[in-house]
Amino acid sequence: MNISQRMQDAFNKQIVAELWSSNIYLQMAFWFRKEGWKGFASWMYKQAEEEKQHAMDMSNFVLMRGGEVKLTAIDAVKTNWKDAKEIFIDTLAHEQNVTEMINVLADVADEEKDRASQNFIDKYIDEQVEEERNVQDILDSFEHQSNHAVAHIDKELSKRQ
Ligand SMILES: [Fe+2]
Ligand SMILES: [Fe+2]
Repeated sequence: MNISQRMQDAFNKQIVAELWSSNIYLQMAFWFRKEGWKGFASWMYKQAEEEKQHAMDMSNFVLMRGGEVKLTAIDAVKTNWKDAKEIFIDTLAHEQNVTEMINVLADVADEEKDRASQNFIDKYIDEQVEEERNVQDILDSFEHQSNHAVAHIDKELSKRQ
């Protein structure tokens, strides 16, 4: 095995967290579908797929290095929300939490002096910057839409060459 037990355990924990992420976004997609919001639902289905992909990618990395992947129970997710905006507020908080977890994973890789893992985790550090930005942009849109007139002026100003 080319990966330390501690590093392997940290990855296993993150893999389960990514699957939990996939479930929460899938549940959000179902909620949107039920409420008739097809666009939001489709965005959330894609988000759920992406999180599952993260779990697969991390599992593949651990297995490639001769480690073992063991799935544990995945906690139940929240199933009801007040409105679309509340879902995105939850999404941002969740992604900020994931960023913290990825940082902890990177700390373990540093402490274990595991260069391959450090290199692998780097792309997830970049990914989290993007994830947080995307969700923040959506939340900003909610704010702007509730102020039509100013949003219109903003759009006009964006045309300046
Ligand atoms: Fe993820
Ligand atoms: Fe994510």
